[in-house]
Amino acid sequence: MHHLLSFLALFFFGLTCRAVTIAGSDDDSCSTLKETFADDFLVGAAIDYGELRDTTSALHQLIRREFSALVCENSMKADHTEPQEGRFNFAGGDAVVDYAQRNGQVVTGHCLVWHSQCPAWMFGPDSTGHPVDRELLIRRMRNHIYGVCSHYRGKVKGWDVVNEAIEGDGSWRKSEYYRILGDEFIPLAFQFAHEADPDAELYYNDYGLDSPRKREAVVRLIRSLKARGLRIDAVGMQSHLSLWTNLDEYERSIEAFAAEGVNVMATELDVSVLPWPGEMPNADISTSFEYQERYNPYRDGLPEDVLAQQGDFYRRLFAIYRRHAAAITRVTFWGVHDGTSWLNNFPIRGRTNYSLLFGRNLLRKPFVEDIIRDAADASKAQK
Ligand code: XIL
Repeated sequence: MHHLLSFLALFFFGLTCRAVTIAGSDDDSCSTLKETFADDFLVGAAIDYGELRDTTSALHQLIRREFSALVCENSMKADHTEPQEGRFNFAGGDAVVDYAQRNGQVVTGHCLVWHSQCPAWMFGPDSTGHPVDRELLIRRMRNHIYGVCSHYRGKVKGWDVVNEAIEGDGSWRKSEYYRILGDEFIPLAFQFAHEADPDAELYYNDYGLDSPRKREAVVRLIRSLKARGLRIDAVGMQSHLSLWTNLDEYERSIEAFAAEGVNVMATELDVSVLPWPGEMPNADISTSFEYQERYNPYRDGLPEDVLAQQGDFYRRLFAIYRRHAAAITRVTFWGVHDGTSWLNNFPIRGRTNYSLLFGRNLLRKPFVEDIIRDAADASKAQK
């Protein structure tokens, strides 16, 4: 099917940039995303076993041509890397690392300590039936972080050490880690990660960081880690955005984090065009709503006006990234193309979303040329 699409794309579009992306050529005659932003930041994508098993050559050419960084969408999470206590499994993560090395791409690790996709044993009783307590949880956290970080030492540039520890109102999330250890679990995680891989960059990662309350809480966290002499290199703003996200607030957060002397990364970028059924959108993977037709309005295709709106949004977003390029080290999309984006199933299963820069046919959306041209114009104007 993809071969037929490649042929049709070539036929209809001629050898334009859009078509080259899928045509099977590694011809560098037009700018790619990674080249366009090479002096500014890495441009990444989340991939995993789905992509690695897919034999569509156009998909692999796209990944190689457009992206300078990769991250595992799932394979480096605790439920994958240590499904049973003390039994590590690095198969999925290793496959992505090998693939990235073959393509000359930078890998980052996602993630060490997170309340979701965390194996149940982490908070369960020990082998003698003794319920988990502070000491046991610290020991398990240390073993997990040491095991994973030392395996990937020298292979990943940095780690999302703690993911999603803060609630929308700026308070600590009442996760099991928090319930047992209080907010101490965060500095402990950063300490262990640094001990296990002193060369790795260390990041705090979260969603909804355009919210002022969450922004302030993250600023407090950066200060408290630094006050303890711990390493923190960057804040990862997941950036699961939608057409309705307030980009002024988002930019203020980039400024606030950069002002604390850390780098900033968009670590899981996507821009949903579908309605959010609840009140405040979030990216907590446990959120879910019943499927209803009215929440899936673009099943048969994305209307031109919505595509244009998404193009405007992405152009404004990349203008923000360029303005703050001194602090921004990486912009990573959460997926390669619309067809396999997690947003087709979150927070409602079975919708048709259009959140990324590449459509289901693996072609660049038309506004990608605008993003690239904007960047070229800005760099000409600077010279
Ligand atoms: C998502 C993956 O994309 C899905 O495949 C998986 O089923 C659930 O997790 N925030 C994160 C990511 O930090 O790890 C999540 O990834 C999306 C929200």
